Amino acid sequence: MYFNFSKQYNEWASCYDPMQKEIKKLRQFIDLKDKRVLDIGCGTGRLTFRLAKYAENIIGIDNDYFAITLARALNEFKNTSFEHCDAIKLPIFPHKFDVIFFSWSLNYMADACAAIKEAVVQLSEHGQIVIMYTAKGDYENLMQDSSDNETILCENYDVATRELQKNNFTLRHDEIDSEFVFSSVDDAVDKNEFFFKVDKNVKNYDVCVKNFRVALQNRAAIDGSISIDDKVKLLIARR
Ligand SMILES: C[S@@+](CC[C@H](N)C(=O)[O-])C[C@H]1O[C@@H](n2cnc3c(N)ncnc32)[C@H](O)[C@@H]1O
Repeated sequence: MYFNFSKQYNEWASCYDPMQKEIKKLRQFIDLKDKRVLDIGCGTGRLTFRLAKYAENIIGIDNDYFAITLARALNEFKNTSFEHCDAIKLPIFPHKFDVIFFSWSLNYMADACAAIKEAVVQLSEHGQIVIMYTAKGDYENLMQDSSDNETILCENYDVATRELQKNNFTLRHDEIDSEFVFSSVDDAVDKNEFFFKVDKNVKNYDVCVKNFRVALQNRAAIDGSISIDDKVKLLIARR
């Protein structure tokens, strides 16, 4: 999805959640000990690597070849591997998975229903599907106010919920409340501007970046750092 911007995506993603609120919240509900995990739409491995410390093994998949290539290069875990494939056509794995994550990825999938169906096939008998879904909040408003773009498919969360209910999963809805923290306005602009290049609907890149900079300047903290709240919908589905 970010193709030759994978490195920029990775640098941006590394500014997420310095307080590790995401992993703390996930571990409240999901015990990863001895679990085989699949991370669908893993990108460059942001969450995959954070989960790898706790799981038995984890496979990250993504249909972006550049993201998978970078994830493989960054991988330092023996229990972690990456596959280049599409969420709706997963390869035959040697085992089923106890926990399957869709982290910030279902939002962008053209056929969310097919992706969930495919995940259900790969899930072990008492497995869990965990969806972390970018909600429209502070971050999205900031980007959208700057660019007038809209790339998030809000309806995919409902599509996934319905498909899981149809398959008799028990659902728990929650939220992860965290933030991106950048060291300065320049740092925030440097790490975010590629989004305006990636988005084909953005007509005037320079204007978008300028608007974004002005919006950031208005919220810089005393030390110059920039914090952007990020709310993520969390859906945990159990069989
Ligand atoms: C915003 S990134 C999220 C990356 C990572 N999961 C994270 O939490 O940082 C969304 C990822 O979903 C991937 N993606 C979108 N549609 C996909 C599909 N049909 N199959 C596999 N991956 C897909 C994109 O290539 C992209 O890397």
